[in-house]
Amino acid sequence: MSTLTITDNRTEPSEHAVGKSTLTITDNRTGKTYDVPVDNGTIRAMDLRQIKTGPDDFGLMTYDPAFMNTAACRSAVTFIDGDKGILRYRGYPIEQLAEKSNFLETAYLLLRGELPSRDQLDTWTYNITHHRFVHENVKKFMDGFRYDAHPMGVIISTIAALSTFYTEANQIKNAAIRQRQIFRLIAKTPTLAAFAYRHSVGLPYAYPDDDLSYCGNFLSMLFKATESKYVPNPVLERALDVLFILHADHEQNCSANAMRAVGSSEVDPYSAMAAAAAALYGPLHGGANEQVLRMLREIGDKKRIPDYIKRVKAKEVLLMGFGHRVYKNYDPRAKIIKQIADQVFEATGKNPLIDMALELERIALQDDYFVSHKLYPNVDFYSGIIYEAMGFPVTMFPVLFAIGRTPGWLAQWEEMLLDNEQKIARPRQVYTGSDKRDYAPIDKR
Ligand code: SDX
Repeated sequence: MSTLTITDNRTEPSEHAVGKSTLTITDNRTGKTYDVPVDNGTIRAMDLRQIKTGPDDFGLMTYDPAFMNTAACRSAVTFIDGDKGILRYRGYPIEQLAEKSNFLETAYLLLRGELPSRDQLDTWTYNITHHRFVHENVKKFMDGFRYDAHPMGVIISTIAALSTFYTEANQIKNAAIRQRQIFRLIAKTPTLAAFAYRHSVGLPYAYPDDDLSYCGNFLSMLFKATESKYVPNPVLERALDVLFILHADHEQNCSANAMRAVGSSEVDPYSAMAAAAAALYGPLHGGANEQVLRMLREIGDKKRIPDYIKRVKAKEVLLMGFGHRVYKNYDPRAKIIKQIADQVFEATGKNPLIDMALELERIALQDDYFVSHKLYPNVDFYSGIIYEAMGFPVTMFPVLFAIGRTPGWLAQWEEMLLDNEQKIARPRQVYTGSDKRDYAPIDKR
């Protein structure tokens, strides 16, 4: 078998590279050795290309399906320590932001890198508040969806469609134009979400109310009936604000990766964010919160939890809302969401599914399968139970995730554009297909 022998000169220095932050790689196919720098716990994949067996050899690549161990970028936006269950936005612990900040301030932090002054926050909030309306034509194509269209399908389509209204948006190198699209996307995504919901329940669209907060206005556009002015429940308004903070970013998750990859072609941010929302829609990602509720309904009764756990361990089904690529400990967001549940239930009445979820967590975390696989509740395990208590249908849960994640996607997108090391994303492959073969006429096949 072809192998490399690698010496880590940081810990076991080879004779000619004592104490250096390098690896000494010996290609056992040729006996040649190479010193490769180690920086931030990584080696550059391009440094492996020099390792060849001859002049016609392309050189070594890394092979890493699903990027299990590949850093695709440098980022200062979000820090996660999966083993310790740590999540920080621009260095600020998620627990402090959830307690003391609000969603628009957190959006500012993610995008600008610092907490705003009072004036900066007021200007930021003013700009976002005054971009809430969408072009009237949006209603026309939203009406074209079937009444039972999944609102995520509607949102993905209408976010992409916004690119046709703001043709300046493809000037992605212009900071002022980027900022205007960032305001528009943070401001209009709740409007599109509310319109999608109202369409699905056969209610007329409720227009934005600029007197209300970001979340108060969202609740108004969703649930306003015949009253002249909707008055949001302050408990629900704050709970939604905190839930959006908790969902605002999560470093290089699947949808952030989609935002970066699609954005790297220098397309406008509406098209890139539609791709990100599409990635989020998947049941393994942001679609999980919807699947958790369906799973709890399928289990139906606490007495049937042990049977369901058996099916999970037999790999017939996944325990939705459990597990994480990075967190091998309790997702810090799930802890905070559990605390919010009690506050929401005081206002809405208790969602009986919470007892089932708590019992499911208790049983799972005592079971060696989950402990050994390091499977803990993630952000999606409890969020849907709260959303349902607030009056949202399960199909709206991933849409709520998308609203919260919008500033994070945009922060990742803008950081990618401003990173001189980045260029259009175009991975390599290991070709496993047929060798050259000649076309055969159909009567000869
Ligand atoms: C989000 O990346 C992010 O940051 C995402 C997110 C964000 O904020 O952007 O945090 C949001 O997407 C949270 C995750 C929501 N998804 C779910 O709750 C769906 C259920 N979870 C799984 O699909 C899974 O845990 C993932 C997708 C979240 C993570 O998958 P990985 O890291 O690729 O792990 P894996 O699928 O390779 O699983 C490793 C092992 C396997 O068992 P073995 O083959 O090794 O024996 O753990 C098992 C898996 O079968 N496993 C599960 C499980 N999750 C993993 N077994 C049962 N139930 C589960 N939920």
